[in-house]
Amino acid sequence: MSTNEPVNIIMIGMAGSGKTTLMQRINAYLHEQKKAPYVVNLDPAVSKLPFQANIDIRDTVDYKQVMKEYNLGPNGGILTSLNLFTTKLDQVISLVEKRAETTEYFLYDTPGQIEIFTWSASGAIITNTLAATYPTVVVYVVDTPRTASPATFMSNMMYACSILYKTQMPFLVAFNKTDVVGHEFAVEWMEDFEAFQRALRAQGEESFMNSLMHSMSLVLDEFYSHLRVVGVSAMTGQGLEGFFGKVDEAVREYHEEF
Ligand code: GTP
Repeated sequence: MSTNEPVNIIMIGMAGSGKTTLMQRINAYLHEQKKAPYVVNLDPAVSKLPFQANIDIRDTVDYKQVMKEYNLGPNGGILTSLNLFTTKLDQVISLVEKRAETTEYFLYDTPGQIEIFTWSASGAIITNTLAATYPTVVVYVVDTPRTASPATFMSNMMYACSILYKTQMPFLVAFNKTDVVGHEFAVEWMEDFEAFQRALRAQGEESFMNSLMHSMSLVLDEFYSHLRVVGVSAMTGQGLEGFFGKVDEAVREYHEEF
């Protein structure tokens, strides 16, 4: 890397995409590389973490207690827990800063209910505060096997696109679970508009959905051309070298721009 500054990696993705497993795998990988990361868990509702977090939102807020106290459902409970945690963000930042000399990567795991983090005020405050501290890369984790049909691929990419434009930060799409299904189809659909159209046609008759997706894929073409993509398997660890190559590339480009 061209800078000695540490990098924040924020892991975002749909429920079940494999954020937590990927965090665990990255954590182990960096330990093997003698680059132990500093890990922050921002998911108040996770029951069991498969890795040791240096800072854990659950030590500050009891999600079940919050639900009871404020008479909330699960999503309201997570959102309120995140809001309460955000009031203590300055303490988190000062702990993180103390590790900046010795840590290359700070990893942040986010709640499974993606919209709670990406569309809430506290999610935006956390993301922007982190980005103001160190270069920050948002990693959008995709469940590749569940994205292999044109319809799910398109909606997942629309979501990724909305997060990219909302956060306006260095962004990386990590196609996870490549031990089950390779991500080559996704790269082909992004690089070759015709290939995606063929896949759409192969799906069946000309329905309203297909025609909508045809129009949307034209819009997404511009988004794809700026997109950084990598295939990984949190299960086997394949692709992690490429993952960090892309993270460092995103940070380099960010430094060149500013
Ligand atoms: P939420 O906590 O709901 O947000 O889920 P998450 O995004 O953190 O996903 P999690 O890491 O809990 O993984 C969901 C499921 O996918 C688990 O059963 C994992 O074992 C499985 N999984 C995660 N990554 C991989 C992978 O690379 N390959 C395979 N085959 N399975 C995976």
